[in-house]
Parts: sequence; structure tokens; C-alpha cells
Amino acid sequence: MAKVIAIANQKGGVGKTTTAVNVAASMAATKRKVLLIDLDPQGNATMGSGVDKYDVDSTCYELLIEEKPVQDVVITETTGKYHLIAGNSDVTAAEIKLMEVFARELRLRNALEPVRNYYDYIFIDCPPSLSQLTVNAMAAADSVLVPMQCEYYALEGLTALMDTIKKLASVVNPELKIEGVLRTMYDPRNRLANDVSEQLKRHFGDQVYRTVIPRNVRLAEAPSFGAPAMYYDKSSTGAKAYLALAGEILRRRNKNLKKAS
Ligand SMILES: Nc1ncnc2c1ncn2[C@@H]1O[C@H](COP(=O)(O)OP(=O)(O)O)[C@@H](O)[C@H]1O
Ligand SMILES: [Mg+2]
Repeated sequence: MAKVIAIANQKGGVGKTTTAVNVAASMAATKRKVLLIDLDPQGNATMGSGVDKYDVDSTCYELLIEEKPVQDVVITETTGKYHLIAGNSDVTAAEIKLMEVFARELRLRNALEPVRNYYDYIFIDCPPSLSQLTVNAMAAADSVLVPMQCEYYALEGLTALMDTIKKLASVVNPELKIEGVLRTMYDPRNRLANDVSEQLKRHFGDQVYRTVIPRNVRLAEAPSFGAPAMYYDKSSTGAKAYLALAGEILRRRNKNLKKAS
């Protein structure tokens, strides 16, 4: 049974897409079956997976609005060795059309039902807003992974985001959990980053991943080569950090399964 993880933060530029692409590739490298859904009309996760967003047969639009079967919209060839449902500007149209349809919050959840048993992990790269698309992601997900930069006001923003997630969850998906808070673009020489990181741990405890994603130029360069960092420079600190994150996600899941049994 797939674990469905939405990667969300209404702030732009915090590392959602970088996390989505690199954690999907890292998880696929551990022989798990992985699907990445690019729910952002910017299509950055699509391009970063080596797929031309201007030249795809279907996107999340066909999945959500035309209700094409999920198997027919999945792209199986990506540089990261995971499956992909592409995103591009058509997804903006999907967002508008969603407003008119019945049970619009549950479109993605229902669409994914036929493949929940096939994949081990499904990651959803959310747009930088709390739009109807993000609501669909939260309704479809088991948990939310929140990437954040350790900067001034980050904690305030995060508390507000957690409240919003809880409120949303109580309406569309009471089972929704916080998967974890991920520190991204981290610079250990920056004192403010260290202070914020400490506050974060005090406030959110175990929910903060031990793995920290460093600021690493390879992570920023890799998308222009249409590849996750591990296929662009596998020895880079960025590639290694995302492999470590995949390991931590796997260990947490095992621990929780043991606790539950
Ligand atoms: N750890 C990192 N080190 C260096 N650059 C990064 C890192 N993470 C993300 N970036 C860069 O920062 C920008 C924003 O990241 P992105 O993942 O697109 O954020 P979001 O999806 O939240 O908008 C991109 O140009 C990306 O390449
Ligand atoms: Mg993005």
C-alpha cells in the first residue's frame, strides 16, 4: 500500500520542488516503486525529471478534470527512475474548472485509488498557495512534509501553516498527519539559521527531521540538466542529503508500523 506524502508550504522558493524530485529519485534508488505528481502549474518538477512540460500528452488536468484513468496519464520514463504525472500551465485551467465540479476536494484522492496498491510511495509537489489544488493534495495524502528555510519569521509562518493544515484536515481528511518538517538550504555558518533551527526543534520536537538539506549549488544546477542531483553529481552534499532523508522517511515508517502492530 502506497504512502502518499504531500510536499507543501504556501511560501514559494523554500525547496518544495527540489525536495520532491530528489526524494522521489532517492526513494526509487532504494528499489521502491515511486510516483511523483507535479501539481504546480509551473511544471518545475516535470522539467527537473527530464520531461519537457511543453511536450506531454497528459498532465494533472486530464487526471482531475477529464477523469482519464491514472494509468493513462502516468509517464514511466524519467531521469530519476520514478513515474510522473506531469504539470504545466494546463493545471491552472484545472484549478479553475475544479470550482465547478462535484466533490472537488476528492478528485485527486479518488483518481489515485486504482494505483494505491501498486506504488510504495506517492509524492505530491504542491503549488505555493493554499489553492484548491493543495486542498486536493491534502485530501489525497496520508501525511504532509513541510520544507522550510531557517530564516527570520520562519517559525511564525510555520505555526500558521500547521494550524491551516489542521483546519483543512478536519474538513477533508481527518487522518492526515504531519510527516515531518525539513530544514532546507541550510548554512551552518549562519548564526540566525542555527538559532531558528534550535527554536524549531524545541517547538516541533521529533517532527523535525534529523536530516538537514545544506545549501548546495549542485541542487540548484541539476534541474537545468533535467535530472535529480544524484544523477548529475552523485558525490555532492545535496545528493547525499536527500538519500539520507529517504532513509529517515523509511525508518520512521517502519517504526510507526511496529508501534501500530
Ligand atoms: N538546498 C539547496 N541549495 C541550493 N539551492 C537550492 C536548494 N534547494 C532549492 N534550491 C534552489 O532554490 C530555488 C527554489 O527552490 P524550489 O525547490 O523550486 O522551491 P519551491 O518549490 O518551494 O518554490 C530553486 O532555484 C532551487 O534550485
Ligand atoms: Mg515548486
